[in-house]
Amino acid sequence: MKGVSRCPKALSNSLVLALIISSCCATLISERHRIHNSVNEPDDPRFSLANLARIFYLQLDQTLDATPNLKTAVASLVTQPDADIMDVVGTVAPFTASPGAPAAIAGTPEAAPAQLSIGSIEDKLLNPYRLDQRCSVDSSSEFRRINATCNNIKNPYRGAAKTPLRRLSRARYEDGVNAPRSTFFRTKGDLPTARAVSVAVHETTSNISRQHSHLMMNFGQFTDHDLTLSPEAFGEGGVESPKEQCCTVAKSLWVDNLKECFALQIDAGDPSFTRTCIPFLRSSPVPALPGRRKIRFQMNDLTAYIDASQIYGSTNIRANSLRQFTDGLLKTSTGVGGEERLPMDSKNPANCFSGEEECRFAAGDVRNSEQAGLTSLHTLFLREHNRIAKILKGFNSAWDDEKLYQV
Ligand SMILES: *[C@@H]1O[C@H](CO)[C@@H](O)[C@H](O)[C@H]1NC(C)=O
Ligand SMILES: *[C@@H]1O[C@H](CO)[C@@H](O)[C@H](O)[C@H]1NC(C)=O
Repeated sequence: MKGVSRCPKALSNSLVLALIISSCCATLISERHRIHNSVNEPDDPRFSLANLARIFYLQLDQTLDATPNLKTAVASLVTQPDADIMDVVGTVAPFTASPGAPAAIAGTPEAAPAQLSIGSIEDKLLNPYRLDQRCSVDSSSEFRRINATCNNIKNPYRGAAKTPLRRLSRARYEDGVNAPRSTFFRTKGDLPTARAVSVAVHETTSNISRQHSHLMMNFGQFTDHDLTLSPEAFGEGGVESPKEQCCTVAKSLWVDNLKECFALQIDAGDPSFTRTCIPFLRSSPVPALPGRRKIRFQMNDLTAYIDASQIYGSTNIRANSLRQFTDGLLKTSTGVGGEERLPMDSKNPANCFSGEEECRFAAGDVRNSEQAGLTSLHTLFLREHNRIAKILKGFNSAWDDEKLYQV
């Protein structure tokens, strides 16, 4: 049923609600970050976080070499992390596309040509976004791919899993290409801390809806988990992130040894926190798609389409791990009362808040066990898939596993 779900009317409201709610649950924050570390193993190792980060930093080095003004600016961030970059180099020249690349403004549909131009040898070998994704239209492409490549035949990577998130407005990096705008990087800057913004924007008021049940928020989160997951840096392969160190080591070490640190400073008089620092890692960087400005992008680990990724997955590895490969059925486990539950996830022990063996479930999205309401929806859709697959099997005895699963 991948690809057949329709957007319910209330979706945008519920999404907003879920986002607000999920950003307000302070007690869950550290646990959620742990879960984000368990991203989907890529089908092709060139799409690993480590490789994509490597390509991004290679491109960044090339950019800096080609832009001496910018290089000076970034060097000053390293050696004087508290300096205001504007004081050091003046206004940083806006970065433009590298020679040979088609001029493009990030965010315009024309900016990502299907035919990719070739960069350096290393780029050519390692940059998966330069792979030629051929989208054949024949009997073998009757069903959409699990990773959504070739959903758009002219732009094979549009909305595909493990590609950069699309920007709706231009990036505003401190150095134009990579460094976050920050009070930590510019003490004399005019920016409030992220925490101050959060306190001001997220008022804590209770307003119980007379129109919507709690299910609306849950469905919003369920849908959000169909659409986006941005992995944290250092996330892959269960490597323990050095996030805690972001609050304990000197800022001057961030750029060299802990380049993904971006700890949040807490202002004095904060309504909730007495601590002065919250450990925080940036999202893992990915290079730009060919033809776009070579700035730091963030990854969407899932397909960007409302296509039930949270049920079926966004990579072949995950999708296959959830299938029985018999009669189109998805794997299940048996609950205490004999009921059909989500299958157990042996590879993902962090995917459960309570740490109980019982709740290490596997589903299309790794966050399925974040809270019980969400897990219930995952279970509901799993059962629905198997219910329909069995009915279809009854009508079409000649259909094989693949056809029953896909339809
Ligand atoms: C997407 O899926 C196709 C077909 O299964 C596969 O050939 C390709 O390598 C996948 N791409 C990524 C980014 O994993
Ligand atoms: C509570 O929600 C209702 C309905 O959405 C809205 O009209 C009202 O302004 C809200 N009240 C507060 C105090 O936020």
